[in-house]
Amino acid sequence: MNPFSYGTIVTEPYFFNRVEEKDKIVKTLKGGNNLVLYAPRRFGKTSLIVKAMKELENAGYFCVYFDFMTVYSKESFIKSYSRALFEKQGNLKKILRLFSEYVKGIKPVLSYGENGKPEISFTFSEMSISDDMLGKVIDLPEKLALKSKPYIMIMDEFQDIQKLNGENFENLLRSHIQHHQNVHYLFLGSRTHLLMEMFTRSNRPFYNSASVMGLGPLPKHETIEFLMRRFSESGIQIDKETSEYLMHKAGNIPYYIQFLASEIWQSVIDSGKKVDHEMIDESFDKVIDLKNDYYFEMYDRLSRYQKKLLHALAQEGRNIFSREYALKYHLSATSTTQKAMNGLIENGLIEKQENEYIFSDPFFRQYILRLPA
Ligand SMILES: Nc1ncnc2c1ncn2[C@@H]1O[C@H](COP(=O)(O)OP(=O)(O)OP(=O)(O)O)[C@@H](O)[C@H]1O
Ligand SMILES: [Mg+2]
Repeated sequence: MNPFSYGTIVTEPYFFNRVEEKDKIVKTLKGGNNLVLYAPRRFGKTSLIVKAMKELENAGYFCVYFDFMTVYSKESFIKSYSRALFEKQGNLKKILRLFSEYVKGIKPVLSYGENGKPEISFTFSEMSISDDMLGKVIDLPEKLALKSKPYIMIMDEFQDIQKLNGENFENLLRSHIQHHQNVHYLFLGSRTHLLMEMFTRSNRPFYNSASVMGLGPLPKHETIEFLMRRFSESGIQIDKETSEYLMHKAGNIPYYIQFLASEIWQSVIDSGKKVDHEMIDESFDKVIDLKNDYYFEMYDRLSRYQKKLLHALAQEGRNIFSREYALKYHLSATSTTQKAMNGLIENGLIEKQENEYIFSDPFFRQYILRLPA
């Protein structure tokens, strides 16, 4: 069995570290405060939250996980939010009754799938969705929670709320949840900039409504230790310096570290050799070859100027709006670069971390570097 895992929520033995972060999350929520946790994509937010959720549940809290990424309308919010609440209930009849009595205009229908699993669907008796209906759904957790069994609502990719007619929905959500006594909220997101604006700008409804916490990369020392231990458990050796090289190649992003390590493991498991730089490079290149068509499509969709900017960013990602940078990479006016950059961030290719613009996918960066400029 491959000792590395990626692309799903990981638990031990694929998960390591994040003890302090987990403790802080648990403590803040237990203290009755709301929390915002932000991190770039694939840094391990969901895995960390799942771990914190287990601990909170053991302590008597009722945790419900909800992802805003799949929400595209008020109606879809109502359906998936209610479904997330229903799925966690032991007593479905009770929540069905509460829902029907409390939320007028929406009828929940319970049926059983082929495997006997309960499935819930909703029929709307009114043409449009009123704020009152939406508000009632938002208040459901407070209706269900008890002082002795508080709810923790976890809202992943929370910045995506802005897709729902912007501030209006934000306002409504905020105006309701601020009255919740027995429900605490954990907001997660990967679009750092958007999320920070929501919570730190005084003109925004969620201003100052939660403590803010960022999630960084996994610490170097522990990551090296993890890599060495997991390889050695299958009889494969890797030294410290080579482990560090692997981390570096993977852009120091938790997901890509496990992805690359998993590829390397595949290629050395039969020969049982010691991992060296060359093997890491080979596995790295193999991945790029495999993803070539996908990367080409992604690249091909960009405008000419975005392509040009991407080539520059693959070289270096600091001070990109300076005169020197523009001269060096033959870029146009700052406003043009800014516009192109917004597009690259919008489609998730580039992320801003502190003062640097970096590739979300280190393999894609290498793919760009290989292309003729
Ligand atoms: N604590 C950890 N220890 C080891 N690997 C981790 C850890 N956290 C995350 N990873 C690696 O990163 C991958 C992505 O983790 P996860 O899905 O939790 O991240 P995420 O930030 O929620 O990602 P996304 O932005 O795609 O929602 C995992 O599959 C695993 O390979
Ligand atoms: Mg996630």
